[in-house]
Amino acid sequence: MSTSPLRGRDLVSAADLSAAEIGLLFTRSAALKAEFRARRRHAEAPLQGLTLAMLFQKPSLRTRVTFEAGMTQLGGHAIYLTEGTVLGGRESVGDVARNLENMVDAIMARTGPHEVVVELAARASIPVINGLTIREHPCQALADLFTLYERFGDLRGVTLAFVGDGNNVYHSLALMGATLGMHVRLAHPAGYGPAERIVERARTLAVAAGGSLSFTQEPREAVEGAQAVYTDAWTSMGQEAEAEERRDAFARFQVNAALIAAAPEAVVMHCLPAHREEEITSEVMDGPQSVIFDQSENRLHAQKALLAELLAG
Ligand code: CP
Ligand code: NVA
Repeated sequence: MSTSPLRGRDLVSAADLSAAEIGLLFTRSAALKAEFRARRRHAEAPLQGLTLAMLFQKPSLRTRVTFEAGMTQLGGHAIYLTEGTVLGGRESVGDVARNLENMVDAIMARTGPHEVVVELAARASIPVINGLTIREHPCQALADLFTLYERFGDLRGVTLAFVGDGNNVYHSLALMGATLGMHVRLAHPAGYGPAERIVERARTLAVAAGGSLSFTQEPREAVEGAQAVYTDAWTSMGQEAEAEERRDAFARFQVNAALIAAAPEAVVMHCLPAHREEEITSEVMDGPQSVIFDQSENRLHAQKALLAELLAG
């Protein structure tokens, strides 16, 4: 069997993956999901004897549990390291990388600044996976677009409307969605748009793949005719001091029954954690259009596929 094109690679940005590589990960995610759902066990243990170091500068439920459980389910092991032990200024990022590359097989890192994950990836000779930075959340985008792939198959021409903050989750969805030829719309309040550099990159990818990016300050305009309506917290981790002004700025951008009436066929998505009755109502989150808990389950399957391809593909 030939070596995976992903073997030994890093995943720092959602733009690191080509459409073919994303397709490979979707296929493997689907196979792992079917096997796990049927038996809660896998016939093979491709990561036997392998260790993942997980570095967290910020809290997590889904990212931690899905990476740790995913390693266990594939025969490997994960070590959870928090702010006090690493990346907290105790030693340089380069020294952390030089230590870990001699001890474990891969690193997953959730940091504040994006540059920390970039530096880890540059310094460590083993795969480094971005588990969320202020700039991106590529593992989330992978699981989310896998969730759409399960429903729609080929995602070329599928429209996703993101309503809210032009944040890390939006950035990664825009980059990966553009790579797959999707139409990615964003409705955001003035002053809360995405990073221009990401938009430029995503535009180039979209043009090449037949997709598009569009922006509006009218949630209804973004949502009309979309196949997926996505939202995320108005205040991301690290922005807590801005929470009150953000609540005011985003008040018109709540995903509620009135808004999704404009897209009755759309699935409703959220990366979680959700702030019920802020960016999304419970009625919509727990309603028939919601695929939110499928997304969180798919973090497990998509990341297992990623780990298997990076480490044993
Ligand atoms: N969606 C997500 O990354 O969740 P956690 O912050 O709980 O890991
Ligand atoms: N945008 C959110 C995503 C949490 C998974 C944050 O960065 O806090």
